[in-house]
Amino acid sequence: MNTRLLGPGDAAAAAEILKSGGLVAIPTETVYGLGADGLNTEAVRHIFEVKGRPQDNPLILHVADAQALERWCRDIPETAWELTRRFWPGPLTLILYRKPCVPLQVTAGLETVAMRCPDHPLTRQVLQMAGVPVAAPSANLSGKPSTTTAQHCIHDLWSKVDAILDGGPCRVGVESTILDLTVTPARVLRPGGVTLEQLREVLPDTELDPGLVKPGETPKAPGMKYRHYSPQAEVRLLRGSSAQFADYVRALPDEGTAVLCFSGEEENFPGKRVLCYGSEARPETLSAGVFDCLRELDTPAVQLICAHCPSEAGVGYAVVNRLKKAAGGKLICL
Ligand code: TXA
Ligand code: MG
Repeated sequence: MNTRLLGPGDAAAAAEILKSGGLVAIPTETVYGLGADGLNTEAVRHIFEVKGRPQDNPLILHVADAQALERWCRDIPETAWELTRRFWPGPLTLILYRKPCVPLQVTAGLETVAMRCPDHPLTRQVLQMAGVPVAAPSANLSGKPSTTTAQHCIHDLWSKVDAILDGGPCRVGVESTILDLTVTPARVLRPGGVTLEQLREVLPDTELDPGLVKPGETPKAPGMKYRHYSPQAEVRLLRGSSAQFADYVRALPDEGTAVLCFSGEEENFPGKRVLCYGSEARPETLSAGVFDCLRELDTPAVQLICAHCPSEAGVGYAVVNRLKKAAGGKLICL
């Protein structure tokens, strides 16, 4: 397939491709999405095929504004409106009951649907112009680290999709927070760009899905049960001081070992391949950098990635969640 690379002046072209049943990689503030018309079941089926995505993993529907909820969802609780007023457009996905007009291909057969209004000017234009809800998972191939630049999308999707819309690097860098509003109290199914602390300012009794905190519990977001975000190398997630982390890493062979560290630590690993993914004191820099670094280290020359685990404050919680998944669920305390 011939893939077109589109840019900031091309929102109308992207909307046209979507309306005619094509696939377009679209920028959002979190990660790039692989978009299709959410009402076109053939286009939705194509998303699963291109990504290699398991059939039981539902997609998020992206909409231009909060009013769209009325059109696609039923039994919307008042809390949904409170949350959209505070966080939309932005990195918060709400799970609500679907109306019958939402295809089961989007929800993987579930009676609920994930709704999100992304905060990226270009994609908001596309959504307005397309006039359809856009089903979009993250634009990476299934299992791989998410795509946060158009370059990443080109790497994974060139010649497999109709277009890639370059909207620059994603500001947040980790996916949206998924909040289930079909249960009381509301439950976070996936941590992301909106933090638990922020959600509790609006809904004080918001809980974390037991699947996120207790080993052995099945996560409720079907996608959270899969091995995910993983480069081909083994990832070891290490918690400890700079000195402890440096001691651990220095004992490993230089050949094949890569280091994912905080800014200021780069000098501690002479001889090793070192990438700094952000500043420990500013978790938003870590979320913005983590997938780009994991992807850069996804080469046959790297067999082991040692990642310094950040604090779980703020968006750091979502960063740790992604790194833990990349590390097969294990966190090593030094
Ligand atoms: O930031 C994001 O959310 C990005 C951008 C592109 O919007 N999208 C994204 O999509 O991360 P994806 O498909 O990679 O992850 C969606 C997650 C999956 O874990 C899926 O299982 C869950 O949302 N999900 C979707 N619909 C659901 C539903 N009805 N109930 C529970 N979980 C659902
Ligand atoms: Mg994904």
